[in-house]
Amino acid sequence: MKIFMDTANVEEIAKFVDWGVVYGVTTNPSLIAKSGRTQAEVIPEIAALVSGPVSAEVISTECAGMVEEARKLAKIAGNVVVKIPCIPEGLKAVKILSAEGIKTNVTLVFSMSQALMAARAGATYVSPFIGRLDDIGENGVQLVENIVKAFKLYGIETEVIAASIRNLEHVEKVMLTGCQIATIPTKVLEQMIKHPLTDKGLAQFMLDYQNSLK
Ligand code: E4P
Repeated sequence: MKIFMDTANVEEIAKFVDWGVVYGVTTNPSLIAKSGRTQAEVIPEIAALVSGPVSAEVISTECAGMVEEARKLAKIAGNVVVKIPCIPEGLKAVKILSAEGIKTNVTLVFSMSQALMAARAGATYVSPFIGRLDDIGENGVQLVENIVKAFKLYGIETEVIAASIRNLEHVEKVMLTGCQIATIPTKVLEQMIKHPLTDKGLAQFMLDYQNSLK
């Protein structure tokens, strides 16, 4: 499972790129707004920082506008992937963009049916949202597992990005689903490296080393 960062904060991305763990990045209009900068400012910087895909989302909700935005976004850098909402106009846009060789990430996916529609329209990636499904009492990880299983069953090459991840449990559960990618917020990435026994063990090793010098 590849690790993507789910943020538009360039400093945070640079930090985890230095750790060697981040392959790609996903953004959305809310994350761009949170960064305090514009999409035009941050996407080129992020695309230069990571070698893998960087998702930038369209704002239009009708096909022609999405396609126009997507063509501009795709020109920013070779690793920019255009994020398209899972609505009928989005599927039409995905079909056109796919024929042009522009990669797409169909976002706001909450069901198996939506995932299949997006894949059949030609999506490079689909993003089922785990946390938001959990919020309404459904099981987001189960949806990811089901989509991965169905895509494998039918030889569908569209990759699954587990999105809307809120905690370590989500990360560790989706690792067992076989999904190709998890896009993870900074706060959860920071928690992933931590374990109290690592800190305790390291402190003891340092103490024993110092004592051995006496
Ligand atoms: C990523 O593609 C999504 O936009 C993101 O994971 C949504 O996460 P949220 O539900 O925590 O806003």
